[in-house]
Order: sequence, then C-alpha cells, then structure tokens
Amino acid sequence: MTEYQLIEGDETVYRDGTIKLHGPDGYEGMRKAGRLAAEILDELTGFVQPGVTTGEIDDKARTMMLDAGAVPATMGYRGYTHSCCTSINHVICHGIPSDKALKDGDIVNIDVTPLLDGWHGDTSRMFFAGEPSLKAQRLVDVTYECLMLGIEAAAKPGARLGDIGAAIEAHARQFRYGVVQEFCGHGLGRLFHDAPEVIHAARAGTGPELKPGMFFTIEPMINAGRPHAKILRDGWTAVTRDKSLSAQFEHSIAITDDGVEIFTESPKGLHKPPY
Ligand code: MF3
Ligand code: CO
Ligand code: CO
Repeated sequence: MTEYQLIEGDETVYRDGTIKLHGPDGYEGMRKAGRLAAEILDELTGFVQPGVTTGEIDDKARTMMLDAGAVPATMGYRGYTHSCCTSINHVICHGIPSDKALKDGDIVNIDVTPLLDGWHGDTSRMFFAGEPSLKAQRLVDVTYECLMLGIEAAAKPGARLGDIGAAIEAHARQFRYGVVQEFCGHGLGRLFHDAPEVIHAARAGTGPELKPGMFFTIEPMINAGRPHAKILRDGWTAVTRDKSLSAQFEHSIAITDDGVEIFTESPKGLHKPPY
C-alpha cells in the first residue's frame, strides 16, 4: 500500500517511505532550484572540451551554486566531497571529479544538484569533448529520447509509476541497449533522495498511481552493451561490467493536474549535444 503525505508549509519532512504531495510553495521552490540547476549545465556547455579536467568542471559548478546562494547537495552527502558527478564513457554514474583531463571523443555526463532555499534541483546532461564516435552519438541520442519518453508516459492521465520504466525500456530495447537497474530515479523536494524509487525498466500499469503534487526525477542510464554495473574501490564510481559506453540524462519533474512540469528544462534550449 502506497501512502501519500500532503506537504503544506515548511514542516520537517522525513524519509519515512511516504510519497509527498506538494502545494504551490513547493512548485515555487522547485522552479527556482530546478532553473538554477539547468542554468549551471547551460553555462558548462562552452567549457567542456578536450584538456579540461573534471575537477575544473566541479570548481565551476560549485562557484555557480555558491554565487546563486545555493549549496551543492552532494557535498557531504554520505561522505561525497564534490559539487557534481562527472561520468566519462563507460562510467554509468557517480564519477568523481579529479585532475583527469577530458580527451577528444569522450562523452561525459555532468550531474548537478543545487540546494536552494531548502529545495533540491537535480539534473544531468551528456556533453561531448570534441567529436565522439557515431556509436557514442547514437547512444546519447537514444538515451535522451528514453528520458523524454519516460516523461511523456508520466504525463498521461491515470498513469502509474511503472509506465515510465516500461516506456524507457521499450525504446532502449529497439537498439539492443541495456537499461541499468542498480540505480533509480527518486522522489525529491525538501529531501534529496525520497520515495518513490523510480525504476527505469518496469512493467506498464504497475506501481503507485501518479498524483498531482508528486515531485521526482527520471534519470535513465543506458548502456551500449549489457545492463550490469559494478562499483569501483573508491566506493562511488559505477561502471559497466562489460566496459561498454553508458549515457544518462536526468530531469526533476512534477505531476500536475493536466500532465507534468519539468523543473530543470534548459532555458537556452541546450537539451542534448552537440550544443
Ligand atoms: N545527483 C545524483 C542523483 O541523480 C546523486 C549524486 S549523489 C553523490 O541522484 F553523492 F554521488 F553525489
Ligand atoms: Co537524481
Ligand atoms: Co542527479
């Protein structure tokens, strides 16, 4: 049985398994946090190129958050000490920024989560350093399509959570890509990671009913090969077991009375590379 909880003011919210349903204040807060997150990725598009280190990207992301009066929600999160995640080529997610430079042909996901006035805006996009292989470009295109098809599935009246994963998996399958199962989207708002868990490969018609006021992310990770992940000894970096390329896009969205609202849409229309 899914329990929903109405969030009306600025009461403390707990990770108690309930799905939070937000009011106008929540939408306002998430619009600001989501917009900032998207603007940070917009700003990074000109910066990502061969020779730039992921640590430099992290510094830029942190500076932009602090300048806007936000803090990186990732910093200090379960011992993570950076302001974003930078996941290159066969890294699925949670790549740790370092002094490693991007090389020509790399594809990299940058995932940012500013915490602004108590609300979390969580989004990621793929970026190209130089010119990637056609195989990499096709994976990135299809992964973006998977995200948008998942969002469309959530926008249908009467939709259930499983409809999102069903739409994503059906699309990925046509290209024989693997949908990562070890990591999921998540409810968010005042909390960074909350119920429900949004799985990206699921059966249509299953899971909780989507109700207006729900805020959650959709963040499919799609592999050019098998779906399986393993975590490196640093405790964070998730890579494909078969070393195949992996791509990801993430939006923070709300269910509304007549569909969905995307909080993290690019104000500059920089939806997917090449930008
Ligand atoms: N932003 C990631 C997500 O989409 C979470 C990163 S947690 C970190 O949920 F600690 F790895 F940064
Ligand atoms: Co997320
Ligand atoms: Co994220």
